[in-house]
Amino acid sequence: MAAFFFGLLLFAMQPPPIPSRPAERGDRGPPPSPTASSPLALNDTGATGHPNGTLKQLPHILIIGVRKGGTRALIEMLSLHSAVAAAENEVHFFDWESHFQKGIPWYLSQMPFALPDQLTVEKTPAYFTSSKVPERIHDMNPGIKLLLILRDPTERVLSDYTQVFYNRLQKHKRYQPIESLLVKDGEINLGYKALNRSLYHLHLQNWLRYFPLESIHVVDGDKLIRDPFPEMKRVERFLNLEPQINASNFYFNKTKGFYCLRDHGRERCLHDSKGRAHPHVAPAILHKLYRFFHEPNRKFFELVGRTFNWN
Ligand SMILES: *[C@@H]1O[C@H](CO)[C@@H](O)[C@H](O)[C@H]1NC(C)=O
Ligand SMILES: *[C@@H]1O[C@H](CO)[C@@H](O)[C@H](O)[C@H]1NC(C)=O
Ligand SMILES: *[C@@H]1O[C@H](CO)[C@@H](O)[C@H](O)[C@H]1NC(C)=O
Ligand SMILES: *[C@@H]1O[C@H](CO)[C@@H](O)[C@H](O)[C@H]1NC(C)=O
Ligand SMILES: *[C@@H]1O[C@H](CO)[C@@H](O)[C@H](O)[C@H]1NC(C)=O
Repeated sequence: MAAFFFGLLLFAMQPPPIPSRPAERGDRGPPPSPTASSPLALNDTGATGHPNGTLKQLPHILIIGVRKGGTRALIEMLSLHSAVAAAENEVHFFDWESHFQKGIPWYLSQMPFALPDQLTVEKTPAYFTSSKVPERIHDMNPGIKLLLILRDPTERVLSDYTQVFYNRLQKHKRYQPIESLLVKDGEINLGYKALNRSLYHLHLQNWLRYFPLESIHVVDGDKLIRDPFPEMKRVERFLNLEPQINASNFYFNKTKGFYCLRDHGRERCLHDSKGRAHPHVAPAILHKLYRFFHEPNRKFFELVGRTFNWN
């Protein structure tokens, strides 16, 4: 009982927090995330940080997409680097109105505790294809570094379909066969959202209205899965990180058929759903789809001044 009152007294004696960053002023957000509710120590300088010397920072790096492009693998691999602190969840701050309304202080509260010289990274794959997002991110930080991981657009559509298909299956709901979504009246159905998400040039154009190409690094998702190390070296270079990730951080798991990560002796593989088989698609439709993407792909290669091995 005494301890309880003592605790209460201590609490009452806490001076009100004085946020150091202008961004933290007027925090009217909802209850902070579980980590943010841990005691925040006040510092001489008025900075809010954890007593262990860590603090929450707005992201310096964003993985903006694409959905089913390998964003989870990328953020996990990037986390191997000691100078990187990754947000655990997809925050959906810039694309969901209900989150965006909560403001920057809420966004900050969703970030992990990091050491002052660490770079914070968040990934939300839906950012890439949401048209209002680039301007909003630019308003927060025009110098932010953007990572975009892409795969062969046809493969990506099939993967996108597969994810929705399994989600529906789990909820015991029916889902249309893929052919009926891909093709309408004998033509490729542009109204199918998963197809639209693979029109990379269309979405990138929107980003290039706000960010120079030098701020956007495209990661080859097909290569990252087949041979992660060289792709991760390129990412390190783009982010000006000291080279630290090395070949022994990756090992191939024959049963799974893809690479797993080794982090200070700790081994972990990506979630099993990442290796799901795609649906069977009639070869004629698959062929039509590959042909359809030929022109959008060419436009994308032109935009980024680089080609990718997409059929
Ligand atoms: C105050 O901030 C400095 C620098 O960020 C940090 O090293 C120190 O641990 C902080 N002190 C407290 C009590 O949080
Ligand atoms: C510092 O404290 C935070 C909040 O409890 C925790 O998440 C983080 O892991 C700690 N970091 C270190 C380096 O101890
Ligand atoms: C594809 O998505 C973009 C961006 O959301 C949108 O502007 C465009 O109208 C869509 N195209 C089709 C054919 O639905
Ligand atoms: C690779 O990095 C790990 C730490 O992540 C380190 O222990 C190991 O010595 C490095 N190996 C080489 C060949 O540099
Ligand atoms: C390799 O993958 C299999 C199948 O998912 C798993 O059971 C096993 O633990 C993995 N082995 C290693 C060393 O990661």
